[in-house]
Amino acid sequence: MSAPLIVLVGPMGVGKSTVGQLLAERLGVGYRDTDDDIVAEQGRTIADIFVDEGEPAFRAIEKRAVRTALAEHTGVLALGGGSVLDADTRAALAGLRVVYLSMDVEEAVRRTGLNTARPLLAVNPRRQWRELMDARRHLYTEVAHAVVPTDHRTPEEVTQAVLDAT
Ligand code: S3P
Repeated sequence: MSAPLIVLVGPMGVGKSTVGQLLAERLGVGYRDTDDDIVAEQGRTIADIFVDEGEPAFRAIEKRAVRTALAEHTGVLALGGGSVLDADTRAALAGLRVVYLSMDVEEAVRRTGLNTARPLLAVNPRRQWRELMDARRHLYTEVAHAVVPTDHRTPEEVTQAVLDAT
């Protein structure tokens, strides 16, 4: 069975897409992102899916997208920030090279605070961020083989740190 070479997890805005693409270039493999897969499959934005159908429906779509990508992709795979909420998804990550890209709250607000395209941070980014991370930090840590902090680091530096850690 094929499996991704490296899976990136971590909160929205941490740079999974940017770092994932740089990693894929460095390793000479393909890059895939489950958020992109969902948008392509659904023909609408993630924000629209949240508004139209609500978060539980989005999570069900996301769970399927993650399962498909894990089965099909052999390069670098970035997962949406909330995908680790699902226990089956966490189990499916066991044995893979999973890297948790982390950042502190100030960095998070700087990177995502004004981005209302992210429905989970649209109202009060700082408080929502803390709540999200309180609920998820241990889940990212549980699935990860390595944790790579991204604060005050360029995407190139983070990419190198991921390569060093895997
Ligand atoms: C979410 C993260 C987003 C996207 C959706 C929900 C989350 O992905 O899947 O807005 O719950 O953390 P990114 O982490 O790629 O921004």
